[in-house]
Amino acid sequence: MEKLASRPPDGDRATTESHGSARHAPAALLALLADGHELSGSAIATQLGITRAAVWKQIEHLRALGLTVHAAAGRGYRLDAPVELLDAARILAAVSPEHHARVGSVDVHWQIDSTNSELARRAAESRDSRACVAEIQTQGRGRRGRSWQMPLAGGIALSFFRRFESGMASLSGLSLVAGIAVLRALADCGVQDVAGLKWPNDVVADARKLAGILVELGGDALGPCHAIVGIGINLRVNTTQGASIDQPWTDLAKLTGDRIPGRNLLAGRILSRVAEALDLFASAGFAAFEREYAGYDALFGRSITVASGGDRWIGTARGVNSRGALRVERDGVEIELDSADVSVRGAVADRVGKQRSG
Ligand code: BTN
Repeated sequence: MEKLASRPPDGDRATTESHGSARHAPAALLALLADGHELSGSAIATQLGITRAAVWKQIEHLRALGLTVHAAAGRGYRLDAPVELLDAARILAAVSPEHHARVGSVDVHWQIDSTNSELARRAAESRDSRACVAEIQTQGRGRRGRSWQMPLAGGIALSFFRRFESGMASLSGLSLVAGIAVLRALADCGVQDVAGLKWPNDVVADARKLAGILVELGGDALGPCHAIVGIGINLRVNTTQGASIDQPWTDLAKLTGDRIPGRNLLAGRILSRVAEALDLFASAGFAAFEREYAGYDALFGRSITVASGGDRWIGTARGVNSRGALRVERDGVEIELDSADVSVRGAVADRVGKQRSG
């Protein structure tokens, strides 16, 4: 039986030679261990051209990033489960041929501040559309100044840049359309009927967030402009990693009994479906999605708390209009909201109750 250890296999910490690429992000090391097989410290050191001490340092780095790496004395290192690293060619292979041109290029980053920020920095040099994904976001962003946490290899952080001619003012409803695209992509991967949409930007299951969408716009209000659609989806998040997430969350592993699609397949299908949906949105607006959205609307008929412009009030969600604005009934009067923060009343209590009784 192997011994689980937090110390390195014998000898890996002994040398004080130059650490070579140990100073760099341990992407190459993770690629070697990704299939879940055990590799000795010396085999890793040889393949990466670094010392065993450098290997040990990088192993510690991977652990600090949230991965469980087992070290068996005298044998070597292995991950507790295989991981599928993001790969541009595999992502593009999962994009439908008719959407290749629209998706454009896909840049894969090992570590970046935020994929949305990266595409914003590159906006001026970007043509019609492009995409990027990252294994690690150091400053992943959510709506309203919140942060977005994603464990290494435990989710997908992806952004898609697209130009529009119609002006930013015409793009309301875009985050809802992106949510529909995510659900279509999940269905493409065999994951159906597990999640719905919580206006305006969450993919939810059982009142917990499975994925978040951050749409950022730039350009003219009435002329040429662009949208950056950022999508973060939880695939496998353990309890320790989840402890730093500041809202109720779930992941695909829990929703599917651990039968999650490959990360590259899912990323490619999301890009394909987002590209497809944004093309239709550009020509026909949100109205073309109104019906489909209604089928996914997790708020419909629910009592909700609305926070808008410093005000907080309670109403009943009545679906969305043809622009994607939320219809809320308040004291018998219907109000249409283009932006607000909404929460389902009693959702957390329901969830806690279910957990306790289950
Ligand atoms: C939210 O739920 O508030 C939106 C979360 C959006 C997270 C994604 S991850 C990829 C992209 N890059 C970011 O920094 N944010 C989005």
